[in-house]
Amino acid sequence: MNSKRIVLFASGSGSNVENIVRYFQDSDKIKVVCVLSNKKDAYVIERCDLLHINALYFNRTAFYKTDCVLEILKAMRPELIVLAGFLWKMPIDIIDNFPNKIINIHPALLPKYGGKGMYGMAVHRAVKENGDLESGITIHYVNKNYDEGAIIHQAKATILPDDTPETIAEKVHRLEYAHFPKTIERLLNE
Ligand code: GAR
Repeated sequence: MNSKRIVLFASGSGSNVENIVRYFQDSDKIKVVCVLSNKKDAYVIERCDLLHINALYFNRTAFYKTDCVLEILKAMRPELIVLAGFLWKMPIDIIDNFPNKIINIHPALLPKYGGKGMYGMAVHRAVKENGDLESGITIHYVNKNYDEGAIIHQAKATILPDDTPETIAEKVHRLEYAHFPKTIERLLNE
């Protein structure tokens, strides 16, 4: 049986990438074929070396002014494209070529704390400053607007008065590790 192929995009540390790769590494049904990154010195590239996963780097010109990333994706024939800590907006051509096949994880309960500039620690600082009593994760389809595609799954964490942006980030990361691979698996098994 042919396995279902996933391509991951990431911009930073890549702890979600590592978690997803490890989750599927013994699966004969689902395979992570490649990780694409827009930062050549991102730690995710080093993780891919350690995990023996193909990694490719592209720059802004290649991404927004040529169709080379699109052509690479087409050649890889992914069943699902997963943005796991990817901070650039997806070009419309890529979105149009992979309808309902691109998903993103956002470190908050959308529609709260979405949109341009809302990523990583900026989100957790805003949650803390507003005194929210809960935060969480949102896994959603990607459309042409940041963080606005249909929601697939959300999970919540309670925020205590002593929590800092850093401890909120830890709680959110724990939710990401627990829910993201399983949600990917569920989508691919539908
Ligand atoms: C994750 O928390 C992810 O939700 C967030 O970046 C972090 C990447 O962590 N994504 C966004 O903010 C997208 N708007 P990681 O590199 O350790 O996986």
